Amino acid sequence: MLTGDPANNVTEAIFSKLGVRLHTQAAHPLCILKSAIYAYFDARFGEGVFCQLDELHPLVSTEQNFDQVLVPPEHVSRSPNDTYYVDSRTVLRCHTSAHQVEVLASGRRAFLITGDVYRRDAIDATHYPVFHQMEGVRVFGAAELAGQADASAWCAAELKEVLEGLAAHLFGPVPVRWVDAYFPFTQPSFEMEIFFNGQWMEVLGCGVMQQAILEGSAPGAEGGRAWAFGLGLERLAMVLFGIPDIRLFWCGDERFTRQFKPGCFRAGGAASKFSSFSKYPPCNKDVSFWLPAGQAAVAAPGAFSENNLCEVVRSVAGDLVEEVRLMDTFTNPKSGKTSAMYRVVYRSMQRSLTDEEVNALQAEVRARMVAGLGVELR
Ligand code: PHE
Repeated sequence: MLTGDPANNVTEAIFSKLGVRLHTQAAHPLCILKSAIYAYFDARFGEGVFCQLDELHPLVSTEQNFDQVLVPPEHVSRSPNDTYYVDSRTVLRCHTSAHQVEVLASGRRAFLITGDVYRRDAIDATHYPVFHQMEGVRVFGAAELAGQADASAWCAAELKEVLEGLAAHLFGPVPVRWVDAYFPFTQPSFEMEIFFNGQWMEVLGCGVMQQAILEGSAPGAEGGRAWAFGLGLERLAMVLFGIPDIRLFWCGDERFTRQFKPGCFRAGGAASKFSSFSKYPPCNKDVSFWLPAGQAAVAAPGAFSENNLCEVVRSVAGDLVEEVRLMDTFTNPKSGKTSAMYRVVYRSMQRSLTDEEVNALQAEVRARMVAGLGVELR
């Protein structure tokens, strides 16, 4: 545990990821993708016009993570079920938007922030509690907007044009569509989707920055406008490089790392497809249990929730867990108690697991479910 604070829900497994900073390791696919995006902004706007910030620390205040970007007090992302709290006022950032205000306040008018972000979530091939985001912000001063009848609409149009160019740079010529979205910090807000590998895929969220954020933080920005976007690097890298499981980014296995070289990026994944090394067999373990009667779905730390269960499994099995899946649930009308069955899929990326070791992991998971989540095993 990071602190003895009662609000602390950062496990050792998560704490050990701070400082790894995969996005700064030159031959890592996340860094290669980051560099490809930086190259696009340098080519389009001029070298260094968008300041590249890779070193901002993931420990931030709740003020930075939520209040400064106008996340409402009751928003789910503030719940300790979703976010890692070090203490009641300090979190592991859940998005790179946490830094918008401080960077604007430092006087920057165009910047890209890349960093590790942390979210309590389900476990499967595309979800990992640590992933990487890139945030982009561009400010237009009042003078640049002179003569624009609708500055916000003009800003949104510029944003879309820049991001459509980015999509083409990364994926080659692909269809792009814009979907209306909601983010507390932008208005209007959009999601960009592209048609790739036969399906529509969400690439990023973006919008015109709330005027209160811009004018409240950027000196001299009165009457200006800004846009912002945020994209997740893992999902794009998985699609572009053909990486089938998000744990591979963390495995350090030479069979993985040797396939990537700085600069090996080609639009659409051409010439940079990962060839999977052999898959080892999975081992499924089911666990059935009763929840405490009347327990609410979103629980406090120390009670049952799916995210808390995933944290327990992660703490015991680390990256040997591939998926935690709800198989069945029912409520007994007489007792009012709810039963659930979850399947835990164990699989190593690097070797075959023995029955013995999987049984030992599962026994430990079961013990911690009783002790830590208050469930009654069946
Ligand atoms: N912070 C948002 C997220 O994590 C992404 C975003 C960034 C959306 C900037 C709009 C503007 O989902």
